[in-house]
Amino acid sequence: MLKRISALILAGATALTMAGCGSSDSGSGGSGDSSGGGAKDGKIVMGFAQVGAESGWRTANTKDIQETAKEAGIDLKFSDAQQKQENQIKAIRSYIQQKVDVIAFSPVVESGWDTVLKEAQNAKIPVILTDRAVDSQDTSLYKTFLGSDFIEEGKKAGQWLVDQYKDSKDDVNIVQLEGTTGSAPANDRKSGFEEVVKADPKFHIIASQSGDFTRAKGKEVMEAFLKSNPDIDVLWAHNDDMGLGAIEAIEGAGKVPGKDIKIITADATHDGMQALADGKINFIVECNPLMGKQLMELAKKVVNGEQVPQRVVTEETTFTQEQAKEVLPSRKY
Ligand code: AHR
Repeated sequence: MLKRISALILAGATALTMAGCGSSDSGSGGSGDSSGGGAKDGKIVMGFAQVGAESGWRTANTKDIQETAKEAGIDLKFSDAQQKQENQIKAIRSYIQQKVDVIAFSPVVESGWDTVLKEAQNAKIPVILTDRAVDSQDTSLYKTFLGSDFIEEGKKAGQWLVDQYKDSKDDVNIVQLEGTTGSAPANDRKSGFEEVVKADPKFHIIASQSGDFTRAKGKEVMEAFLKSNPDIDVLWAHNDDMGLGAIEAIEGAGKVPGKDIKIITADATHDGMQALADGKINFIVECNPLMGKQLMELAKKVVNGEQVPQRVVTEETTFTQEQAKEVLPSRKY
């Protein structure tokens, strides 16, 4: 009897935990089978542990993964970690318990994954990293990493700036809105950008702080930057959402975004591209969230025991104001 009560409490706690992580079955038919052994109808079961819903990019990424899983006939179990690593770890452990065929996740931060990845390996469940990397030395812990080259994105942002100011001898004061502390895109976009601009001593990064990839935090941090730094020439925001929040702060301070303060962002979501077309943002480095189709293809191969490349880099470009105006009508996200 005691055992039965404990089992009930445990089952209740697990259900609550997963509800807290925003877990759900979605995709084609969703077996909802938590007893393990893969879907009963022979479909591949994928457990996907998403970062959260922090940005327009993330919303587009989630939608794409759910749609492409359906198209590929993959039974998707989806959880939203609300930007918390502990929620992602709980979700991955739950997928291991459920004996899914493959686990995919976009790690909120780079470090601290070895233990749970070893648990997946011991359970013989292959793992695919999407969008963001982990810093594990043991690369056998995951089958492949599909996502952008964030260092390259940072370099593209820096190079645009260098080109813009090539004929000027004046000092250029830059503020940087970093993404989530410890995340691969924040670490890499920062280092890529700084590597390029630091080659010329006229560029000064006078303030740099995390805005957690959200619009609200981007606005809040930019307000603080504006209060303590009267002479900001350029803002490099690690994503569109923080840049859009910062635009509100800049306008609130009586300055003109895109003119008084030049703005560079990453992502190229619809709202970001609209602000670029309107002249409030000056340059956007694309980060493509539509990687679901590639992910489903990789998942099928991995589950079938086929070889896949250790690294698959997504294709990306950059946008000026003119280019944004041109592509906006056909933009998918
Ligand atoms: O990991 C990709 C980044 O995460 C995107 O640039 C950002 O918008 C998202 O939150």
